Amino acid sequence: MKQKATVIAVLNQKGGVGKTTTAINIASALGKQKQTVLLIDSDPQANATSGLGVSLSGLNSTLCDVLVSGTAVSSTIQKTKIKNISILPADPRLASAEIDIATRDRREFILKTAIDDLEYDYIIIDCPPALSLLTINALVAADYILIPVQAEYYALEGLSQLLQVMQQVQSRYNPDLELLGVLMTMYDKRTSLSRQVYDEVEKHFKGKLLETVIPRNIRLAEAPSYGVPIDEYDKWSRGAKAYKNVARELAKRLEGNK
Ligand SMILES: Nc1ncnc2c1ncn2[C@@H]1O[C@H](COP(=O)(O)OP(=O)(O)OP(=O)(O)O)[C@@H](O)[C@H]1O
Ligand SMILES: [Mg+2]
Repeated sequence: MKQKATVIAVLNQKGGVGKTTTAINIASALGKQKQTVLLIDSDPQANATSGLGVSLSGLNSTLCDVLVSGTAVSSTIQKTKIKNISILPADPRLASAEIDIATRDRREFILKTAIDDLEYDYIIIDCPPALSLLTINALVAADYILIPVQAEYYALEGLSQLLQVMQQVQSRYNPDLELLGVLMTMYDKRTSLSRQVYDEVEKHFKGKLLETVIPRNIRLAEAPSYGVPIDEYDKWSRGAKAYKNVARELAKRLEGNK
């Protein structure tokens, strides 16, 4: 029997820190390492969906229908053009889906129940910038959290609240949930600020901060408009190399956890 997928939620309730960029590009890097990956777009902004070249107009159902109406995940998941990568797409209705499910029994377990039997090596969940019911569903379904942190002054702001929510989910719903790592994004090695932030985050998250940092790289920002991950848009860019290294570093950490 195939082993259960390793489920990683990419989360930071702060907006624009690089969650979607990270989710898409580690998914793709893992796919290139011959791992099968499902990317779940759990954000009504649907940036991961469009960033992988999946157009909303061609979809019969999305994560919204899975959560609200119990539509089968198998008929909602789309293959993408990217090797080994499938996506459970989102659309803007996901924002109201959250209100629809808010009064249900076991509303925190809807995503977990829907994806429990899927056979992939990895499932990566791109979370919205909020500590909302969608995010709680992601954390209940996940084995691990990966937190992208932007190398800027207020990097640590909100992280204690995030960890508090993680602990609540651990104690109430998912005792196996673990912090896999913290990833520094948009790092600019020419500024001492980036280094200072790295050191500060390292102090707070002993052993959890990944050694690899993601540089500020315009190629990473351009790739989504072509609907492809960085390793297909410009595989020799600094961004592509960095995400390849992150995927390796994560796989090594996970190997050590077995
Ligand atoms: N390393 C990077 N270098 C340059 N631009 C980047 C980098 N990482 C992300 N970006 C750009 O910064 C913006 C925010 O990134 P992204 O969408 O990944 O963040 P997010 O945390 O998912 O945002 P949201 O909270 O809105 O979901 C995007 O325009 C993205 O292309
Ligand atoms: Mg995003």
